[in-house]
Amino acid sequence: MKEQKTLEVSQYALVHRPRTFDEVKGQANIVKEFKQRSTMNKFPSAMLFQGPTGTGKTTLAFLVAAAIQCGHTDEKGNPCGECESCRDIFEEKFSRGCTHMLDGSSSSKDDVIQRIEESVHTVPMHGPKHVFIIEEIDQLSTAAKNAFHKFLEKPSPYVHFILLSMTDANGNKVPQSIMDRCQPYHFKNIVEKDIAYALKGILEKEGLWADLPAEFKKEGLFMLVNNAKGSLRRAIQFLERAMIGEFFTIKDIEDNFKFLSETSTLGVLESILTGKAEKAVKGLEEMRKEGNIVDWVHIVAFFLLRHEQNVVSETAFDESPSSSLFKRIQKNTPEVYVKFYTRFMQLVEAIRHGPYMTNTHVNLQVLQMIKELHADKNPEKIPVRGKR
Ligand SMILES: Nc1ncnc2c1ncn2[C@@H]1O[C@H](COP(=O)(O)OP(=O)(O)O)[C@@H](O)[C@H]1O
Ligand SMILES: [Mg+2]
Ligand SMILES: [Zn+2]
Repeated sequence: MKEQKTLEVSQYALVHRPRTFDEVKGQANIVKEFKQRSTMNKFPSAMLFQGPTGTGKTTLAFLVAAAIQCGHTDEKGNPCGECESCRDIFEEKFSRGCTHMLDGSSSSKDDVIQRIEESVHTVPMHGPKHVFIIEEIDQLSTAAKNAFHKFLEKPSPYVHFILLSMTDANGNKVPQSIMDRCQPYHFKNIVEKDIAYALKGILEKEGLWADLPAEFKKEGLFMLVNNAKGSLRRAIQFLERAMIGEFFTIKDIEDNFKFLSETSTLGVLESILTGKAEKAVKGLEEMRKEGNIVDWVHIVAFFLLRHEQNVVSETAFDESPSSSLFKRIQKNTPEVYVKFYTRFMQLVEAIRHGPYMTNTHVNLQVLQMIKELHADKNPEKIPVRGKR
């Protein structure tokens, strides 16, 4: 898994990258602290931004760098966005100023140290400070990591490091010795509601929102949101494609994005809800093999939320196959529906905002859920382990 570099594939992501702190979604505590720091002009000499891809690490690094360099921050701590330092940073022209953008994973990774070495001891000419933003710090070679220590050990009042690293399946790869010498900031996956409103905001700025079909506003949008799995970048990339291709309906979106289809998702869901344990286990096993269980959970969550209420329009959307399934279950076995809803949302929460979970792990959790849901009948048909 490799993180998207600042070179965004999506025009929307680039154009709509926040240039003020308040535009950053979902990282409230971190944003609040940096706004405060900016009004006081007090920044840590080394910061580590860690978290999943597409959650605002690079975006905030640019904002913090601009806040450090800009001589005209406003009363809320926002950089002015107009001065040369701000423009160079927001337009990603790093060759001439005192903000340096380096990449721990580039082919010339050992140059990172050399490039810091070249400027770190010089007086910053184009701004008050040298700011080094280093993407994928965990990818530096061991030798480079060791060499990097010396910069952290002797902090200079004229130098700030903003180190970025993606957390993924393998957890944290940033050496403890680097972590110990930085202020750590943990970025979280962005929750659906924030993603939905971010996309709506982009569509409004693009002048598209008013004319979009109700179908898209009510559900197509949420299909994109849920499949973005907490990454705002991913959601924005989907959105841009959907707009260009005019993929507005669930069907258009399923066909064009290779999301799991409503029919196959609902098949497994129905087996679970109606207590057809063997069928459910088989369906899940198929999905586990294809590595699709996590996606399945995201789409089911979309169906559930759509059935309960729509985030932006706040009305239930009740003319879909999933909603008629839920209605049926609610009518026939209300206790199953309620239990399922509660348990499933816990699982969704854990997948999206807890530690990383593999498909196998999620599969086991779903199996456990089936057992709990239908404890009164045939629980022996449900294996404890995912594999049989
Ligand atoms: N928290 C966020 N708030 C607002 N926009 C965001 C946020 N996270 C990501 N984005 C959008 O996604 C794009 C990529 O985000 P980026 O900051 O590069 O993510 P990361 O570095 O964590 O992978 C940005 O250009 C921006 O448009
Ligand atoms: Mg990034
Ligand atoms: Zn400025």
